[in-house]
Amino acid sequence: MIGRLNHVAIAVPDLAAAAQLYQGTLGAVVGAPQDEPAHGVRVVFITLPNTKIELLGALGDASPIAGFLEKNPAGGIHHICYEVDDILTARDHLKSQGARVLGEPKIGAHGKPVLFLHPKDFTGTLIELEQA
Ligand code: CO
Repeated sequence: MIGRLNHVAIAVPDLAAAAQLYQGTLGAVVGAPQDEPAHGVRVVFITLPNTKIELLGALGDASPIAGFLEKNPAGGIHHICYEVDDILTARDHLKSQGARVLGEPKIGAHGKPVLFLHPKDFTGTLIELEQA
């Protein structure tokens, strides 16, 4: 059911510093920061030849990554995103398998529907599905 790896998301305490690290030290193609108020994050996308890295900074006081950054003050891998052909078909399949789907599909940072799956059901990793 899952297809390509769309991105790996890394939560960071200082988005500008992390973007500079990837651009300067690692020599990656780094995009401009974009605010995602519906998700409580500011994101920077890094384009690699075969996938993307999503740097996540907190946006606002109630950011969903604030707790993660408290536990991981230096930052850390927050989620991985796999592509699926159809988000609703994927959701229904996962629910039928007993997996915990977090909320309803929302429009994600790429303007496409996304859905998150409970890390406890997937080897301790928060999984995002994005409709390809
Ligand atoms: Co993501």
